[in-house]
Amino acid sequence: MKILVLNGPNLGRLDLRDSKIYGDLDFASLTKIIVDAGKEFGLECDVRQSDSEVEMISWLHEAADKNIPVVINPAAFTHYSYAIRDAADMVSAPLIEVHLSNPMSREEFRHTSVISGVANGTVAGFGPDSYRLALIAISRMLK
Ligand code: DQA
Repeated sequence: MKILVLNGPNLGRLDLRDSKIYGDLDFASLTKIIVDAGKEFGLECDVRQSDSEVEMISWLHEAADKNIPVVINPAAFTHYSYAIRDAADMVSAPLIEVHLSNPMSREEFRHTSVISGVANGTVAGFGPDSYRLALIAISRMLK
């Protein structure tokens, strides 16, 4: 089963961000961890990253049109993008929100997610394991 693993702005530069929060993994290494974890759970992960809201929305439309499950780290879009929320709401296959860090233990503006309300669930605070846990959840939901 194919799934989309969508990553929002600045995650492509993961290794250049605050290492106390994000560790020192680069995005290529994170992608490999996700693809390998997906294989363990019978999921073929198509991992994508974009800094563009337009592109992220087009990928969510693709998931909605083709009924593809989604794991999404909306990054900063999490906190304000109603356009991404509306696109995510059109996905009827399982959709899980993930975060590497725990936004609730960070600045106040990160305490709001406009995405959580249209996701089946959220996994946050476990670094790359957040994605792994989301993949476990998706594989169970698909059974
Ligand atoms: C993030 C948390 C967001 O608040 C932040 O804007 C990101 C990454 C995370 O994975 O922890 O870019 O989504």
